[in-house]
Amino acid sequence: MKRTLVPLLIALLPLCESCPTYSHYDRVEDERAIAAANLRKREYKHDVKSRKIAIDNVYVFDGFQYHSEPTTIVIDGSVIGNDSCGAIHIDGRGGTLMPGLFENHAHPEDINDLKNLTANGVTTTMCAACQTADLCESLRNQPGLTSFYSSGWTAVVPNSSHAQLARASPQQLITNVSMCPGWVQDRASSGSDYIKLIAETAGPTMSQEEHNTLVEAAHGIGLKTWTHASTLQAYDAAIRSKSDFIQHTPTDGPLNSSFIDMILANGQFSTPTATIYEFAEETLKVNAIIANRIRKMTLANIKAMYDAGIPLLAGTDASNTAYSGGVILFGSSLHLELELMVRAGVPNLEVLKAATSRPAEAYKLLDRGAISPGLRADLLLVNGNPLANISKTREIERVWIAGMEYQSQHEN
Ligand SMILES: *[C@@H]1O[C@H](CO)[C@@H](O)[C@H](O)[C@H]1NC(C)=O
Ligand SMILES: *[C@@H]1O[C@H](CO)[C@@H](O)[C@H](O)[C@H]1NC(C)=O
Ligand SMILES: *[C@@H]1O[C@H](CO)[C@@H](O)[C@H](O)[C@H]1NC(C)=O
Ligand SMILES: *[C@@H]1O[C@H](CO)[C@@H](O)[C@H](O)[C@H]1NC(C)=O
Ligand SMILES: *[C@@H]1O[C@H](CO)[C@@H](O)[C@H](O)[C@H]1NC(C)=O
Ligand SMILES: *[C@@H]1O[C@H](CO)[C@@H](O)[C@H](O)[C@H]1NC(C)=O
Repeated sequence: MKRTLVPLLIALLPLCESCPTYSHYDRVEDERAIAAANLRKREYKHDVKSRKIAIDNVYVFDGFQYHSEPTTIVIDGSVIGNDSCGAIHIDGRGGTLMPGLFENHAHPEDINDLKNLTANGVTTTMCAACQTADLCESLRNQPGLTSFYSSGWTAVVPNSSHAQLARASPQQLITNVSMCPGWVQDRASSGSDYIKLIAETAGPTMSQEEHNTLVEAAHGIGLKTWTHASTLQAYDAAIRSKSDFIQHTPTDGPLNSSFIDMILANGQFSTPTATIYEFAEETLKVNAIIANRIRKMTLANIKAMYDAGIPLLAGTDASNTAYSGGVILFGSSLHLELELMVRAGVPNLEVLKAATSRPAEAYKLLDRGAISPGLRADLLLVNGNPLANISKTREIERVWIAGMEYQSQHEN
C-alpha cells in the first residue's frame, strides 16, 4: 500500500503545496472597491456604550489555567476591571469565560469575514497575505470587530507556484540575495506586521541563502517571520532559516527527531493548520485514500511536535477563495482546528492556550490573550466547559471586543 501511495503523493506535491496567498478578485480595481466599502463601514458607530459589566458565577479559563471555583469577572470600559462596584450584573452560571480566540492563519478580505470571525469568538486574526495594502489597511482597527494583523506581500521567487497563485507583480519577487534586506524594509514601510516567506519543493524555489537573509533582515528591524512549508524539504528550509513561525504541516512524511530537535533548538513555533488537511479532498484536490493518509500524517506530526514541547498555534487557512473549496469558513473553522488538535492527542488545556495566551506571547501582543485586570476586554463566554469537551467553545453565548459586545443585529 505504502509503495503505491508514496509516488502518487510526490506527483501531487505541486498541488498539495498550494495555499491561497492571493486574492480571488482578478483586478486591483475590485480590491480597491472592497477596501472602500470596508472603510465606509468603519464609520458605523456601535450603539453599545462602553460600560461596567460584572459576569457572576462563571468558570474561568484565564489563558493559562482553568479555575474550578465559579467567580466574578468585571469588564470596565474597554479593559478587564478589578471591582464590580456599580456594574450591571450578568449571570454566567453554567458557562466558561475565556480570552477571545486568536486565529493564527487566515485570509480575510472583506468586513463580512471579520464579522464571521468576531461572531465565532475570534478577537484577533493573523492574516496570511494581502496583495494590496489598501485592502489590508481597510481591515485594521475596525471598532467592535476582530483585530487584524497582516504580512502584506509574501516573499516568492519568479515562476514559483505561489508567485503564480499570487499573480505576483515583478516588484514583489525575490530575484537575488542582495535585494532581500531592502525588500523586507519596504514591507515594514508598507505596514506589514510580520514578514511571510514561501518555501516550496516543486518548480522554482527560493534559495536557502535568500530564506536566511530575509529572516535575518526581518529580525534586524524587529519583525517576526512566517514561513509557509507543507513538505519535509520545505520544513527543512524553514527550520534552517530560523523563521519564527512555520505554517502548515508536512504532508509527505513524518517529522523525525532530527527535524523536531532543530525546531526546538531554534525556539520556532508551528501553526499546523490541520483544518486544510481535514478537507484535503476539497483543498488539495486529492482522492479519499490520499486524503485519509494526509489526515493521519497531519495528526501524527502534531502529536510528535506536541510531545517534544514545540509550541503550537491554532490557525486554519480560512479564506474566500475557490482553493479552500468554500469549506473553511471564517471563525467556525477555528473551533474545528481546536477539535483536530485534541483528536491528535493534545490536551484541551494546551489546545486552548494555543489560541489564547501562547499567540499573545509569541506575537508580543501582551495587552490580550489572558484574563487579568487591565488587559483588553477581548472575551468569549461559552456554555459548558471546554476543558471537559473542547467542542463547547462552539456554544457561544457572548463575545466582547475591547469591552464592546458583538451583536449581530448591529451588523449593517
Ligand atoms: C484596581 O485597579 C485600580 C486602577 O488600575 C488600582 O488603582 C487599584 O489598586 C486596583 N485594586 C485592586 C484591589 O487591585
Ligand atoms: C518565467 O516565466 C517567463 C514566462 O512566463 C519566462 O519568460 C522566464 O524566463 C521564466 N523565468 C524563469 C527564471 O524561469
Ligand atoms: C537583484 O535584483 C534586483 C531587483 O530585481 C536588481 O535591481 C539588482 O540589480 C539585482 N542585484 C544583483 C546583484 O543581481
Ligand atoms: C530525518 O529525515 C531527514 C530527511 O528525510 C534525514 O536526512 C535525517 O537523517 C532523518 N533523521 C533521523 C534521525 O531519522
Ligand atoms: C459567514 O457566516 C455565514 C453565516 O454563518 C455563512 O453562511 C458564510 O458562509 C460565512 N462566510 C465565510 C466566508 O466564512
Ligand atoms: C461535546 O460538546 C458538543 C457541543 O456542545 C456536543 O455536541 C457533544 O455531544 C459533546 N460531547 C460529549 C461527549 O458530551
